Amino acid sequence: MPRNRSFPLPHPLFDEPTFNEPTTTPDPTGFSVRHPSDKEQYARIQQLLSKDVVWFPESHAPPDGLFSLATAWGPNGPGVVGAVQKASQIVFQMVGDIGASTAAKYPGEIRVSDQVSDECLTAPVGSRPAFLYILGDVVYDFGQAQYYFDEFYDPYRNYPGPIFAIPGNHDSFILPGTPERDAPLETFQRNFCSKETVVTAEAGSLHRTAMTQPGVYFSLDAPFVRIIGLFSNSLEDPGVISSEQGKWSTVPDYQLAFLSAQLALAKKDGYAGALLLAVHHPPFSYAPPPTGSGTGGIHAGSPAMLAEIDTICQQQGVYPHAILSGHAHNYQRYTRTFQFSGSPYQVPYVVCGDGGHGIDPLVRSRPGSPKDPPQNGQNVSYLDPHPVVGTTTLTLDRSDDQDYGYLRVTVDAATLRIEFHQVGQAATVLQPADVVSVDLRSHTVLSGATPATKSPPPPARPSGRGRK
Ligand SMILES: [Fe+2]
Repeated sequence: MPRNRSFPLPHPLFDEPTFNEPTTTPDPTGFSVRHPSDKEQYARIQQLLSKDVVWFPESHAPPDGLFSLATAWGPNGPGVVGAVQKASQIVFQMVGDIGASTAAKYPGEIRVSDQVSDECLTAPVGSRPAFLYILGDVVYDFGQAQYYFDEFYDPYRNYPGPIFAIPGNHDSFILPGTPERDAPLETFQRNFCSKETVVTAEAGSLHRTAMTQPGVYFSLDAPFVRIIGLFSNSLEDPGVISSEQGKWSTVPDYQLAFLSAQLALAKKDGYAGALLLAVHHPPFSYAPPPTGSGTGGIHAGSPAMLAEIDTICQQQGVYPHAILSGHAHNYQRYTRTFQFSGSPYQVPYVVCGDGGHGIDPLVRSRPGSPKDPPQNGQNVSYLDPHPVVGTTTLTLDRSDDQDYGYLRVTVDAATLRIEFHQVGQAATVLQPADVVSVDLRSHTVLSGATPATKSPPPPARPSGRGRK
């Protein structure tokens, strides 16, 4: 039966989580529903994009609650966890900003979804990704229910595992006049925070069941790694995780207690795995120095959000091993160096918002000021002018504003390894365009970073497995 968004399955309540279709099917050749431009809406709401934040419900889990990878895998959970433990490492993928808002952008999204899916279907068991984690902005431009099939379910119909997600601004901003039941965060929660293992109407005739995450912020607990996911709300910029002491009175403060409790739990338990923090809006996003040429990309960093995160980390005496974000539609990898609890820490901040929606330049020219791209390893401490954690050094080690891509993360008992993969390379010969490794015990970056390189042209794919 052809895939179709209009004919939901007749028995939508499943006994167990279901992910991919029984057989690998060819890529869609276009959107199944008309996807008119959102230019008019943007012109209408321009003023609201910097002030319309949204309320969200408290997580069903307690602040120190954990949502386990085994739960997400259902009856296959013990087998998946057992395979990870036998391999003595876990592998997973992360990517942000996947949704194509126009037909012209769709091939980019499909290339990413094909490559992450192919990797799962072809990798040896010990290095097979155990899940995909979307760093926000699943469906553009306003998280509409009618676009979930084309922008999420159909491209990822062959992905053979759980797909977790934190919402981005495009999954939460409410267009004026939207009925409450159609609010984008309602749709997001129906598809990612369901209380039942159900196929939603958004999935149409596909079999992927809704995720059962406990809320729009949650902590994913897997062997070797724990990912604290925060919802950074609906503004274009900056990211907002709390009311900021009344500045954003609509935004509840649940996440401050949640982050605090999660870090306290890690400390109490002496958690020895990799502790990651995922948040859609990046703490840092590149702009040239005030004396430099050109101007920054579309999105800037979120210093107030980072200050809240830093403050809670200091209070609890625990800092994540890395912070992962999307939002800016390119790849940026920073290293922030500072003293924490009496020791020198080096923390990667990685932006990977090039998962299909588009690619934006890191620097734009302006009249009389040509753009001046950053150099690998450039000191950008000016992006971190008032750090809560004391004096810091910030370097932009690698960046890519030319290619779509995703992160492949590997964690074992001693090391966190984050690879950036450009799409277009055959899944069997995947070579990362960038790598950073972190020693879990000392929170220091190990050597091993490779020079960023441009990908070769996409190779021919086997017939029926993809579209350029
Ligand atoms: Fe975004």
